[in-house]
Amino acid sequence: MKTAHDLILAGELRGKRVLVRSDLNVPLDADGNITDDGRVRASVPTIKALSEAGARVLVCAHLGRPKGAPEARYSLAPVARRLQELLGVPVAFATDTVGPSARYAVAGLADGQVVLLENLRFNPGETSKDDGVRGGFADELASLANVFVSDGFGVVHRKQASVYDVAQRLPHAVGGLVQREVEVLKRLTESVERPYAVVLGGAKVSDKLGVIANLLKSADRLLIGGGMVFTFLAAQGHEVGKSLLEADQIDVVKGYLAQAQERGVEIILPTDIVAAVAFSADAEHSVVAADSIPADQIGLDIGPESAKAFAAKLIDARTIFWNGPMGAFEMAPYAAGTKVVAQALVDAGAKGALTVIGGGDSAAAVRQLGFEDNQFGHISTGGGASLEYLEGKALPGLTVLEG
Ligand code: 3PG
Repeated sequence: MKTAHDLILAGELRGKRVLVRSDLNVPLDADGNITDDGRVRASVPTIKALSEAGARVLVCAHLGRPKGAPEARYSLAPVARRLQELLGVPVAFATDTVGPSARYAVAGLADGQVVLLENLRFNPGETSKDDGVRGGFADELASLANVFVSDGFGVVHRKQASVYDVAQRLPHAVGGLVQREVEVLKRLTESVERPYAVVLGGAKVSDKLGVIANLLKSADRLLIGGGMVFTFLAAQGHEVGKSLLEADQIDVVKGYLAQAQERGVEIILPTDIVAAVAFSADAEHSVVAADSIPADQIGLDIGPESAKAFAAKLIDARTIFWNGPMGAFEMAPYAAGTKVVAQALVDAGAKGALTVIGGGDSAAAVRQLGFEDNQFGHISTGGGASLEYLEGKALPGLTVLEG
């Protein structure tokens, strides 16, 4: 697989139009302000290196899940402004992806200049399941450029035009961000240092079924928190009140608990829970035993005793992967569990462990709770992509680069 770095070293990119697929899918508030610019920051090194090598850089990306047509709230315009601030050079913005604005902007690019194209998903061809429709859009994208660089790790699990089909139409290379992400994930799958502890949280067990099944073969300890823990507690026969529960997954979870026991994988569940009378920051709340959550209450965080026990199971680990917050961390009364786990990763990292945060909400959570990116070994830009990688699935955006 060729790397963007190889192309730069070979001096092949000066004056070439290089289409870079980045993942700039950042959270925005109601006023269109970016609330976590981690993905924009992560995209900068590759774009900068290409621009400094004299390439004419066309960055393409998606934001949210628009349905194949323009929607103002999903415009990448705020991201173009942030990218320009971070790059420290002007970033032109095309108000379409492959239309007149994009063509005009691309034609006007001088060596080293950068343009961001409007949201790829404003075009139905980007996410179409029909190979012909997707291919048609990929043809248009490819016609803008001479070379394709794949650097959007967060989307490599999507078989989409700008991720997959365009790589079949242009000479292509892998960007530094995707390279680094894959290197780290390989350390978790191919040469993991033990004890290997995995912390899983987030709302739904059903989103993580595949990865849990695979982790039961590779991890030594599985610590479960977040909304998904209530399905585990229910599988043990406990009352979970009005907490999130996926009743249809209880039998699957029972199967996991049995398999874990057979394989000697330790599953660590909370023993206490912060429960509230309503899903709100000012609702009356208290710490209750995990096996007796009152029928009229919602569990919104792991309790202090559990957080301490989780930290104790992490401190001597040599490798830790964490995906999914421990509670509704956006609300201060339910953020403590997530904060204690984040601190435990920092402490284990200081003792030499490789600590990896698997994207999405957990990455946003640690930043919102005041941690710095450099306190962790690696913060992945891809939540879904890193989970699918750990699940052992072939990721289309990576396999296509091998061809
Ligand atoms: C993500 O946010 O995980 C990536 O940007 C992929 O977005 P998607 O789940 O909408 O494809």
